[in-house]
Amino acid sequence: MRRVYMDANATTPLLPEVMEAMRPYWTEHFGNASSIHLHGQQAHAAVDRARETMAEFFNCHAAEVVFNSGGTEGDNTALFGLLRTGDHFVTTSIEHSAILEAARRLAEKGVETTFVAPRPSGLIDPEEIRRAMRPETRLISVMLANNETGVLQPVEKIGQIARATGAFFHIDAVQGDSDLALDFLARQDIQFPQFAERVEQLA
Ligand SMILES: Cc1ncc(COP(=O)(O)O)c(C=O)c1O
Repeated sequence: MRRVYMDANATTPLLPEVMEAMRPYWTEHFGNASSIHLHGQQAHAAVDRARETMAEFFNCHAAEVVFNSGGTEGDNTALFGLLRTGDHFVTTSIEHSAILEAARRLAEKGVETTFVAPRPSGLIDPEEIRRAMRPETRLISVMLANNETGVLQPVEKIGQIARATGAFFHIDAVQGDSDLALDFLARQDIQFPQFAERVEQLA
């Protein structure tokens, strides 16, 4: 029987070039990057180089790149790092459980969340986000691409709402394309040219 793997949204095999780039650090320069010995310092230098490469890609400062263990940790860092008792949080009802579970825990700490529902197309209407905003809204979190449907959300427009209201904007881009056009240094409205077109087609 011929089997077809259709769960690439969840995980894919490693690209051979990634395997080759990582091989020296798994086999030879495997030191703990926090150690002061040579092995550690070599690993540390490699992490710094990787940070600079990412900063170049995102056009941001190397010091602004934070590596973590994955999506759940990143989502939790943003939500628990920014939201305090009395804050209001705006997100959507179709976020990954990493966001939804964090919002549930934050409710116990006195953070109220508004969960904006999608339209039947799976798209979040930015106007619904705007309507959910309150003076005490500190953070908006909307995913870039849904992990079940693949629908791309209008993050550019939602980013403009955050900018206009002074709220922070977190994008869970775990399911983003590898060719995202992100430019953080320009500090302009977030630009996803190829996404904007695809979102327009869906709307
Ligand atoms: C949209 C989204 N956010 C967060 C996560 C959690 O990421 P991780 O499994 O790396 O913790 C996933 C995982 O698939 C996801 O699809």
